[in-house]
Amino acid sequence: MILAGGDGVRLWPLSRRQRPKQFLSLLDERSLLGQTLARLEGLEATPPIVICHEAHRFLAAEQLRRAGAVGATLLLEPEGRGTAPAIALAALLAEAEGRDGPLLVLPSDHHLPDEAAFRSALGAAARLAGQGRLVTFGVVPIRAETGYGYIRAGEPLGEAGFSVVRFVEKPDAATAEAFLVAGDHYWNSGIFVLPAGGYLAALGAFEPAMLDACRRAMAGAATDLDFLRPAPDAFLASPAGSIDVAVMERTEAAAMVPLAAGWSDIGSWQALWEALPRDADDNALRGDVVCAASHGLMVHAESRLVAALGVEDLVIVETDDAVLVADRTRAQALRGLVARLEEQG
Ligand code: GDD
Ligand code: MG
Repeated sequence: MILAGGDGVRLWPLSRRQRPKQFLSLLDERSLLGQTLARLEGLEATPPIVICHEAHRFLAAEQLRRAGAVGATLLLEPEGRGTAPAIALAALLAEAEGRDGPLLVLPSDHHLPDEAAFRSALGAAARLAGQGRLVTFGVVPIRAETGYGYIRAGEPLGEAGFSVVRFVEKPDAATAEAFLVAGDHYWNSGIFVLPAGGYLAALGAFEPAMLDACRRAMAGAATDLDFLRPAPDAFLASPAGSIDVAVMERTEAAAMVPLAAGWSDIGSWQALWEALPRDADDNALRGDVVCAASHGLMVHAESRLVAALGVEDLVIVETDDAVLVADRTRAQALRGLVARLEEQG
């Protein structure tokens, strides 16, 4: 299943409510969702379940068509309730359709350049999921990022996985720094391989109201052309929550498979800068951009020429109706700024 319901506000002003980042082409000519769909080619998998917001149904349908995703199901949420209920809807659908393999949960906005490494980690994860484990992929951290979950690995499980001693979602800066220094934590990649039944059982144990709402929503789901809509009132009754907090922080059944596939979450301008090719001065420049005596810039010019002189570690994003200039290393805080802008209308 592919999670495509995020708001992507940390890539404002390029990413907007009407067109969040998973539908944008940020790394190559394909959208991030298109790249995610391409990642499934050649996997031994049934057609994907893509889940997104009602408002983005035509965007998503068009991108599925363009990617040649034959037989995919497009599940529409009337309003997002976070990843825990979204994954529950897909798990319930997979069960109802008698798909008995483990459920691969892919965010729609990640960069995974080393496909071979990803596939081999997937094989190990599928074996652990077959033993009832809720498997996540761990990435070796390179900075004290507060936008990710952290996993402390325990004893080895089989040839390529570990038990999970502790899972901490989005720690504060001091804790993230301590995890980085200790060197014994991995980042949670946000990609999961789950036995559908095992995930639903865990959700039912920790968040019964979520599972109940999702069950009722799928029992009343309606098909319309290419779209599958869970019963809106039932779904909206679900509390909101992420899989990370609702399940992964609490379950005893978690396992982690290390992933060294050049993974990156294109979650912020900082992360996009890391994933893009950069010039000799460490600048990642997109569009019509000229810069001199500048270092570590992430510049995106949409419709006008952008020039920079003598500045360092900035994000500069120019679009038709808004310009962002920000400290690149504080890119996580953009969510707060965008919330203020929305309050002001
Ligand atoms: N359908 C649907 N509905 N999709 C959603 C929803 C929702 O309500 N909320 C988020 N998504 C999608 C996003 O589009 C994204 O692809 C994925 O689910 C993860 O959501 P994010 O909002 O990007 O999560 P995050 O980046 O803050 O944190 C997660 O990913 C990190 C790594 O990228 C967590 O799993 C962290 O632990 C992890 O480190
Ligand atoms: Mg993310």
